[in-house]
Amino acid sequence: MNQSPAAVAEHGARRDAVTAAYTQRWGAGPAGVWDAPGRVNLIGEHTDYNDGFVMPFALTRSAMVAAARRDDGRIVVTSLDLDETVETSVDDLVPFDAPGAAARVWADYLTGCVWALREAGHQVGGVNLVLECSVPIGAGLSSSAALECATVAALVDLYGLDIDPMERAVLARRCENAYVGAPTGLLDQAASTLCTLGHTLFMDCRSLETQQVPMDFASVGLEMLVLDTMTPHSHVDGEYSSRRATCEKAAGLLGVPALRDVDDLAAALATLAPHGDELVKRTRHVVTENHRVLEAIDLARAGRVADLGPLLDASHASMRDDFEITVPTVDLAVETARAHGALGARMTGGGFGGCIIALVPEGTADRVGQAIAKAFAGAGFGAPKWFSAVPSAGARRIA
Ligand code: GLA
Repeated sequence: MNQSPAAVAEHGARRDAVTAAYTQRWGAGPAGVWDAPGRVNLIGEHTDYNDGFVMPFALTRSAMVAAARRDDGRIVVTSLDLDETVETSVDDLVPFDAPGAAARVWADYLTGCVWALREAGHQVGGVNLVLECSVPIGAGLSSSAALECATVAALVDLYGLDIDPMERAVLARRCENAYVGAPTGLLDQAASTLCTLGHTLFMDCRSLETQQVPMDFASVGLEMLVLDTMTPHSHVDGEYSSRRATCEKAAGLLGVPALRDVDDLAAALATLAPHGDELVKRTRHVVTENHRVLEAIDLARAGRVADLGPLLDASHASMRDDFEITVPTVDLAVETARAHGALGARMTGGGFGGCIIALVPEGTADRVGQAIAKAFAGAGFGAPKWFSAVPSAGARRIA
């Protein structure tokens, strides 16, 4: 499966624009351009930090960085989207929780990668980075991981480091967790780094084993609608970390290392019941979601993509009723997609807004998007945005 000619042309135009902007800014061309995608998670939500299973694929929307080394230890990051430049030096990088650390800003997702690599003992110094990002921010499509993974890819090549793809993802996550201060799992960075064109990635978040499973919606007469409800979310907020803490508490009460280890769900829920409904519901979501991912990956391996629909629906219901991370815009989008022919639909990403995905018959994504826009207008919500997604390539050097 290939990208459409239009997608290839658009990607090339973005690469040329970021290269030209670098050259204009610095008076000489960059040493290279690196690209890392956003992702949608097909299924497996809030399972990653419970040592469970996930199944994302990469988008064509990506972060691109044109970059070159500098030998004075300075780090100069320019965002073309924001028309802003942030300048610091390798000696001034401090994690979010260091005494006197400044409030985090967009550039920390890039500078924090320099910090993470250095902290892991890699010889990395200064760098110029000119960034352009087509992944919408705060939409649950992992714009932050795209920034991180593009930066890590650039630094690895610029400094001649030998770091395998999974370790790159781990270092990018370290930037997000320890430098930026968002306590996320490995899903997003693994997706952005390891996904390959035409595949969905199956990952066991405990063993870090991965498998590329071919996924071609068009070949079975389908299309994957990604609709941004335009309800922004943020992982640095308390809800994400509170879900995570509740899961860890439940695992502790059950005497298992992580909720991934729950074999007998009914018995586990009975044990948790005296400790409150919240622990019961959160645990039920994680355990059933892991089961759904395993079912989904079997279906995908068998090429039965249309049969994923009911699993997407069940995942959404579980996020809405048990994990309680959906919001009215997201629920309305999912219901409307189903009412207009989607085989299944669910929120994707961390929750509290962001995007939904809907598996729809080929050629109908736009019609379903319009129907959701109409439903949103009727409910007094703002206009959504949407596109059709095909599994795309992970982080790589593109020039
Ligand atoms: C965010 C986090 C991921 C993962 C998802 C929920 O995207 O960054 O690590 O926990 O939420 O599945």
